[in-house]
Amino acid sequence: MSKIIFASNRLPVTVQKNTNEGFTYQKSIGGLATGLKSYHEQSNGLWVGWPGIADEKMNREEKKAVQKELLENHQCLPVFLTEEEVDLYYNIFCNRTIWPLFHYFTSKTTYEAESWEAYKLVNLKFFQTIESVIEEDDVIWIHDFHLMLLPQMIKEKYPAAQIGFFLHIPFPSFEIFRLLIWREEILLGLLGADLIGFHTYEYARHFLSSIRRLLDLETNFNRVSYEDRYVQVDAFPMGIDYEFFAREHETPASQEETREIIEKTKGIKMILSIDRLDYTKGIPERIKGFSRFLAQNPEYRGKVRLNLIVAPSRIDVDSYDRLRKEIKELVSDINGKYGTFTWMPIWFFFRTFTQESLITLYRHSDVLLVTPLRDGMNLVAKEYIASRTDYEGMVVISETAGAASELSEAVIVNANDYNAIARGLKKALAMPREEKIARNKMMSRRIQRYHVGFWASEFLNTLNRFSLESAEIIYQ
Ligand code: G6P
Repeated sequence: MSKIIFASNRLPVTVQKNTNEGFTYQKSIGGLATGLKSYHEQSNGLWVGWPGIADEKMNREEKKAVQKELLENHQCLPVFLTEEEVDLYYNIFCNRTIWPLFHYFTSKTTYEAESWEAYKLVNLKFFQTIESVIEEDDVIWIHDFHLMLLPQMIKEKYPAAQIGFFLHIPFPSFEIFRLLIWREEILLGLLGADLIGFHTYEYARHFLSSIRRLLDLETNFNRVSYEDRYVQVDAFPMGIDYEFFAREHETPASQEETREIIEKTKGIKMILSIDRLDYTKGIPERIKGFSRFLAQNPEYRGKVRLNLIVAPSRIDVDSYDRLRKEIKELVSDINGKYGTFTWMPIWFFFRTFTQESLITLYRHSDVLLVTPLRDGMNLVAKEYIASRTDYEGMVVISETAGAASELSEAVIVNANDYNAIARGLKKALAMPREEKIARNKMMSRRIQRYHVGFWASEFLNTLNRFSLESAEIIYQ
């Protein structure tokens, strides 16, 4: 029987070594891992990826034990990376070259030849791991910017394999993408796939434009003709596990963790903000927007609170640590300026919460403020709407989040414009109940229909259909 092989840099479980003995296996954070996890669990798929722990931290026996646990209990096959590989490939090439460039942060982008070599090597390591399990008729679904050379590596050796690639971050406009030194190699690497998917039509359009202008290849609508075959390019907006977020979660643990926040916020309007620590998320701009809101609307002082949740992420990259300090300072400035003995405008949490606790928080928050400067999709916005089964609450989202194109009934703002954030907040807080319900019903139905299972099936069915079609065209 054929199987699906999922490949992504990070596995849905992250392995950590305990201080005394043994290892812990924790859920990974980020849109890709949380979004795809439920689909992977239901499929007979194998997920190939990095377990988040450096090779040197384990001896041979421990590595075997970790591998066994991942395979038997999590349907995962680890690709072990050395500390040097993690540094050059992950910290530098992925997180200081591709990530900032694809999110339009050109001044944060660095170009280091050594890290490019490591990127090629690690993609090869993934290829070799996949080779150890690949069988005829398997479908290989590769995810995200860490593995953009992998499709071509597989296609060269296994031309009949069905290969899909999905990018979870934006694909930038040609004027930005052309700045990358290794731009042609990256495009050719991606063209090894039979189907390339993006969250929005804009990203697909940008990709096709780069293909035409940099590789001089012909494109016909969404189809690229490359060598003796075709590559299909399309938009597949990722969804969430709707039923999970809409369900009741009455577990005592989730109540315990969030009860304090909710208890102490009774009678106060709650604004919620949740992100991974990342400069693309626009967290300082959001805090300044909230401060502008307090300055312009004194009647709300003492009556609203911003619960700012930031999950630690990529702490070995300097700019992330600087950002953490900047956020801390901004929070204390605003609390110092507006706080009273009985009220603090911002509560800042630098840690992760369980999904059940987040659902409880979603249900008790009047507004979700999600204003990334640039974001491939942003699933938090969809999770919030799905959790609000009473259809109350309102999302304020920036137009530069991929999710905004599907959430047109939310309050949409420009993340750089503090006045717009302040106006958006006021509009969401003051919106009549009936209007909120009407808007949320429309968004909620859409999110329910285009859930993550729908997204994955749509992608895999298109891949299957297209691979069969192109085989016929080629062999005619
Ligand atoms: C984004 C990326 C994912 C990544 C996640 C967390 O959502 O698209 O590929 O896994 O961030 O980042 P990390 O570097 O911790 O894997």
